[in-house]
Amino acid sequence: MTTTTWAGAHTPIQDGPGGYTGVEATPEWAEEIRRLARERNATLLAHNYQLPAIQDVADHVGDSLALSRIAAEAEEDTIVFCGVHFMAETAKILSPAKTVLIPDERAGCSLADSITADQLREWKADHPDAVVVSYVNTTAEVKGLTDICCTSSNAVDVVASIDRDREVLFLPDQFLGAHVKRVTGRQNMHIWAGECHVHAGINGDELAAKSKAHPDAELFVHPECGCATSALYLAGEGFVADDKVKILSTGGMLDAARATGAKQVLVATEVGMLHQLRKAAPGVDFQAVNDRASCPYMKMITPAALLRCLQEGKDEVHVDPAVAERARQSVQRMIAIGNPGGGE
Ligand code: 13P
Ligand code: SF4
Repeated sequence: MTTTTWAGAHTPIQDGPGGYTGVEATPEWAEEIRRLARERNATLLAHNYQLPAIQDVADHVGDSLALSRIAAEAEEDTIVFCGVHFMAETAKILSPAKTVLIPDERAGCSLADSITADQLREWKADHPDAVVVSYVNTTAEVKGLTDICCTSSNAVDVVASIDRDREVLFLPDQFLGAHVKRVTGRQNMHIWAGECHVHAGINGDELAAKSKAHPDAELFVHPECGCATSALYLAGEGFVADDKVKILSTGGMLDAARATGAKQVLVATEVGMLHQLRKAAPGVDFQAVNDRASCPYMKMITPAALLRCLQEGKDEVHVDPAVAERARQSVQRMIAIGNPGGGE
């Protein structure tokens, strides 16, 4: 248990296995969060998978690429990253002179954990001339061994920017890798067999059953999903019209939501996404393909954790300066490639 209290909180903040609890997201809480953020000259960034209350109190909500770009240009002294650890670490790599805070440093990522720096060193030794493309969901050390980082919204553009004769090592997500390989038609691309346990759990059978039950619905599918291939199969076999299947990053889903003419959309990604989609297109019925697809790490950023973070200046994110130096170029290349206005 921490000692933090606030006049609006009726119980002290508790620490437990799922993170900090004991504070409700009331309008008074939101006002206090905004006041503390101003006091610290902090900007609050929230990923699309955050709890709705955290998204609503943030200055910016977006996908990984949009938030990295905002973090790189932020004028405030402090960046509070409501997301998972690799995202806050990326902000620190881009802005080493700023204070970067994450409301709970235990918010990790199963995908980032699926490759270590030593494993990447070994893989590179087997392919010494290959260009290494790492998804941003990796540790700072892995980024330091990478030529270009990418996110789901610019992975295709990043790989397409590489000389077609060069071999590519793509890591760590096998489903995003398969999507990029399919779209670019590139044969000399080796893909690491990692996965995100939340997206991998959204499977093809569920998608097929849902789309059969809602034949007029569009499908928005995140490329990290185990069902991305099934979605294209459904389209290929004529079960769903080709133009109804869209493989998109979380920011891409928002752009597509604003543009859609469909009455109903089935969404295959982490359930936090539904909040921004419903705000972006209130007339559309958005349904989760798997409503249990909730990322336990993203959900560790609770109202209590954010309050503690702003009150105590915790948890501060540090990246070894030598590691950050090696990683910076690969991250800067990432933010330079792809649609500069998208994702928010
Ligand atoms: P994007 O916001 O880049 O689509 O990332 C999805 C994700 O899984 C982040 O953890
Ligand atoms: Fe990592 Fe998956 Fe959670 Fe995104 S949804 S943070 S990829 S575990």
